[in-house]
Amino acid sequence: MQGAPLIAMLHGCNLNMLGKRSVEHYGDITLDQLEKVVVDNAKKLGFQTICFQTNHEGVMVEKIHELRIRAAGMIINPGAWTHYSYAIHDALEMIAGPVVEVHLSAIEKRKEEWRHHSVISDVCDLTITGKGVDGYREALIWLVSKLRQNQ
Ligand code: DQA
Repeated sequence: MQGAPLIAMLHGCNLNMLGKRSVEHYGDITLDQLEKVVVDNAKKLGFQTICFQTNHEGVMVEKIHELRIRAAGMIINPGAWTHYSYAIHDALEMIAGPVVEVHLSAIEKRKEEWRHHSVISDVCDLTITGKGVDGYREALIWLVSKLRQNQ
C-alpha cells in the first residue's frame, strides 16, 4: 500500500455521534463502521485512505490545508458547516484534486429550509445526498475513476 495514492475522508461536526443521532435521517451505522466501508473498498481499488473527524471548524480548515496537495482526492461531509461555513468553502477551493461532497440524508428535502442549501457545492466536483452509506461507496468509485483518468 505504501506509495498508493491517498484519498482523504473528512467528517465535520456531530458526525462522531452517528449511530446515536437522528437514526431516521442518518441510519444506525457508526462513524467507525462507515469509515471501515470506505477504507476497505479503497484498499481493494489500490488506494490508501486517511479518515478524520472534528467538531472544531478551525481544526477542519487546518486539516484541509494539510491535505491540499497530499491527498489525491477527497470525500467530505462537513455536517452543519455545509450550510454556512465560508471558511470551509475557501479551504476546499485550494484543494488540488477532485472533491466529493456527501450527505447521508437528502438535505434538499429535509423539513428545515436552512439545510436545503450547501455553501460548499460550487467548490466540489460532485455532490451526493440521500443515499446513506451507498453515497460514500458511489463517491469512492467516482473519485477512483476520475483519478485513473488523470493518471
Ligand atoms: C448531514 C446533513 C446536515 O444538514 C447535518 O447538519 C449533518 C449531516 C448529512 O450527512 O446528511 O450533520 O451532512
